[in-house]
Amino acid sequence: MDSFEFNKIAGAVLGTLLFLMGLGIFSDAVFHHGVPKQPGYALPVAETASAGGAAASAEAAVPLPQLLAKADAKKGEALIKPCTACHVFDKGGAAKVGPALYGIVNRPIAGAAGFAYSDSLKGKGGAWSFDSLDHFIANPKGFASGTKMAYGGEKDAARRADILAYLRSLSDSPVALP
Ligand code: HEC
Repeated sequence: MDSFEFNKIAGAVLGTLLFLMGLGIFSDAVFHHGVPKQPGYALPVAETASAGGAAASAEAAVPLPQLLAKADAKKGEALIKPCTACHVFDKGGAAKVGPALYGIVNRPIAGAAGFAYSDSLKGKGGAWSFDSLDHFIANPKGFASGTKMAYGGEKDAARRADILAYLRSLSDSPVALP
């Protein structure tokens, strides 16, 4: 290859690079993106949050007996899957991390023999009603601040009603619905 040939090739390469740079500058000028005031994309956060909040408060407005009347124990049985990490629901079941839950509706609160309950739950007194179970499952710490039940709570009222319907069915003679 003589030096003239080399110069032609080098010139072609440089020319191409220059052309690409020019193209970059040109396209930047055409498709100019202004720097956004806030980095990232504007998502309609406020809107969804307020819609969710409205739905939640609309739900809270439905009284529990009404939710229970529409509740489905079969769905509840599927929803208690996370609870089975700690609880046995079968008749005659033993305690795991938490006490056995067969016949829990109307059973004395913290009443499973031999289970080491937290003082917080022991101090409640009385028996589990649909209402108190609903509060406890929605927010265990809200119901009994020192509870040992490490579960965040089921926030959906209709789902809780399904769970309650299932818990109610775990009995030789299910308690009447409120
Ligand atoms: C991480 C383990 C864990 C999970 C998950 C869990 N629990 Fe518990 N549960 C416990 C423990 C521990 C206690 C005892 C609480 C105490 O003594 O304060 C308890 C107590 C209870 C009680 C009161 C029992 C009694 O005899 O008074 C009910 C009712 C209950 N759980 C229902 C549920 C339901 C329903 C779910 C699922 C939605 C669930 N738990 C999920 C650990 C768990």
